Amino acid sequence: MKNLDSKNHVTGKSVYVDDIPVQTGTLSGVILGSPVAHGKILELDISKAESVNGVVQVYTFNDIPGKNQIGGIIEDEPLFAENEVHFIGQPIALIVATSEKIARNALKFIKVEIEELEIITDPREAKEKGHLLIPPRTFKIGNVKNSWSKCDYIFEGKVESGGQEHLYIETQGSYAYPIDNGSIKIHSSTQGATLVQKIVARILDLPMHKIEVDVARIGGGFGGKEDQATPYACMAGLASYLLQKPVKLILHRLDDMLMTGKRHPYSSDFKIGLSKDYKILAYQTCLYQNGGAASDLSPAIMERTLFHSTGAYFIPNTEVTVYSCKTNLPPNTAFRGFGAPQGMFVIESAIAKAACELNISKRLIQERNFLNEGDEFQYGQIAENVNISECYKTSIDKYQIDKIEKEIKDFNSKNTNYKKGMAIMPVCFGISFTKTPMNQARALVHIYQDGSVGISTGGVEMGQGINTKLIQVASKVFSISPKRIKIESTNTTRVANTSPTAASSGADLNGNALRIACNGLLERLKETAAQMLSCKLSQITIKDEVVFKDEVDSKIHWEQLIETAFLDRICLTENGHYVTPVIHFDKTKEKGHPFAYHVYGTAIITVTVDCIRGIYEFNDVKIVHDFGNSMNTAIDNGQVEGGVAQGIGWATIEEVAFSKEGKLLSNSLSTYKVPDIYSVPKNIEITPLKTNGPELALLRSKAIGEPPFMYGIGAYFAITEAIRAFNPNYTLDYDAPLTPEKVLMRLYQK
Ligand code: MTE
Ligand code: HPA
Ligand code: MOS
Repeated sequence: MKNLDSKNHVTGKSVYVDDIPVQTGTLSGVILGSPVAHGKILELDISKAESVNGVVQVYTFNDIPGKNQIGGIIEDEPLFAENEVHFIGQPIALIVATSEKIARNALKFIKVEIEELEIITDPREAKEKGHLLIPPRTFKIGNVKNSWSKCDYIFEGKVESGGQEHLYIETQGSYAYPIDNGSIKIHSSTQGATLVQKIVARILDLPMHKIEVDVARIGGGFGGKEDQATPYACMAGLASYLLQKPVKLILHRLDDMLMTGKRHPYSSDFKIGLSKDYKILAYQTCLYQNGGAASDLSPAIMERTLFHSTGAYFIPNTEVTVYSCKTNLPPNTAFRGFGAPQGMFVIESAIAKAACELNISKRLIQERNFLNEGDEFQYGQIAENVNISECYKTSIDKYQIDKIEKEIKDFNSKNTNYKKGMAIMPVCFGISFTKTPMNQARALVHIYQDGSVGISTGGVEMGQGINTKLIQVASKVFSISPKRIKIESTNTTRVANTSPTAASSGADLNGNALRIACNGLLERLKETAAQMLSCKLSQITIKDEVVFKDEVDSKIHWEQLIETAFLDRICLTENGHYVTPVIHFDKTKEKGHPFAYHVYGTAIITVTVDCIRGIYEFNDVKIVHDFGNSMNTAIDNGQVEGGVAQGIGWATIEEVAFSKEGKLLSNSLSTYKVPDIYSVPKNIEITPLKTNGPELALLRSKAIGEPPFMYGIGAYFAITEAIRAFNPNYTLDYDAPLTPEKVLMRLYQK
């Protein structure tokens, strides 16, 4: 089944927040952000701005009826700055005017005087000075300390990885208006409708039932709207509630880039020990997460870094520590991979360093250390249905790695100004929210009298195709045409207490809740059919919209069945509730079984570097991926391709740059380069590994949203191989993104 949204997306018909027809009298909001990264607010005078013609009101923290607090995990982030500011762009005030232009022009009339305080942008410096968002955490297995003496080789190094701008096509935004009885309805471009509802209720000091949040779809989220859509919904909601008028707040691209948090940059140290036969015996790493000025999702992201710090490998003695450091940058947040890519980049760097020092191929170390069935992760879970070695073996056979390596060797010996490089990137990614209680979902299914079906779940469509997959589920359970089924908007009054659509679990959680709801309805419909045919329920099946009795066509059609059930006063509505079984985690011991299952795969990435200019071109990305039993290969392959492009972007060209004063330098699309059609790999080949898929995946089709992102990490090491082929003096370093500028420097390093 094709993604049902594709046509409307490419013809511009899909409706996003800014496309919703507005009510007459809708007002516009524009935010005043802090001009400095750290300081004391000495004076804030909004009177002049308020007197501008067309300005209706200017709001600050003083106007908030409830709590000036938007922190989700930890309550450490005000909606509007009170006495201090902690990052450039931190909201101080909201101007509400009859037009956006008027509001924007009035910004300059707000007088704010700030006494500047010390600015910290570096996570290590923050840690030294004791600025941590939460206490550090350590995961360990075996005994690292006692293991070093048993190692034949020990290597140490330092690794840097940069931030990443989400650059969802639709910027952050909300449209809020008063509805009956003092309630507020908010259309928000959010991955987490309930979180928006909860925090708006907190800001307005209202019960959650007075806030209705609706999401038709969002123009990409990539984690950036897991909880950072909330402040904009709060501001639109606040103004709309206080003025009793519709208020729209859509961020300009430049404001979005300036104000919102990004992927966390990490700075890390590692120590790796190997035996003579290249078995990794011990691995110790300490990672400094640049959290920005408030906790946001950093504690959860830190956790996933800890979970995935050993990548696709089994290392019997491991100790990993993460510090979540408070700096004067916008609070960094969820981004595809959720801290895992940063951890995986460190272990891959450690292996690369070992291989380089030992003068062997990196893949020799990789292949000897892959995770095996029954191995224990450093978090206590026992690895089951592991197929990383199988993915690897399939990839090197199918794609003929020897041939690829030989071709590269030949090419490099024949060319002086161009060099090729290759790297293999294995991925093992755990599926489930790392916070166990978040792994629950509900679905509400209505069958209407004409046999058409309406479905509501907590899942948010953001381009990943969840709505299409939901239709497939209902169509399969009922055995009816997808044309009869509609996915309604995600709405907090229809489906309550939703988890954000994130952790790649959207389809698994919401789809399983839907499956349960549909099965409940199906049972009732079979009862009706059994009555109609005077037989037992067990004799009934429904196939292609027709009722069968003992496998014989009964000539009763779906529409007739529904009509009869309705006249029999059978309930044609059902609610499904799903919780992921098995999973648990004990934070006091840092052990448990946090993931429903793991996703595996390997990618072979080849690159050609132009050694005069430092630019490069990715030739091929050849993947073997364990989709389980993919329920939609078009969507799943699309997720792999998109993930790979985004991962390569992070590892190579996307460079988020801040000045020492905490000012975003890569503040527009002319200074922040994202992968375009010219820079994505010329050829992405995807081979599904043949497996049945785990029971806990929706229809045994594994989660797909995030894992392929990490294939992009291979791009870094493919480039370094090419540089080494050109410049024997180049000493491997680990400082992503490996931009053309950096490549050029390394090509001519003496
Ligand atoms: N694909 C598109 N097109 N747009 C997105 O915003 N977000 C990614 C991934 N794929 C995203 C995407 C992220 S970060 C996650 S967690 C998953 O989709 C969320 O959707 P799922 O849980 O339904 O896979
Ligand atoms: N992924 C995404 N979001 C989350 C997670 C996670 O593992 N845990 C809590 N929020
Ligand atoms: Mo994805 S980073 O879990 O929204």
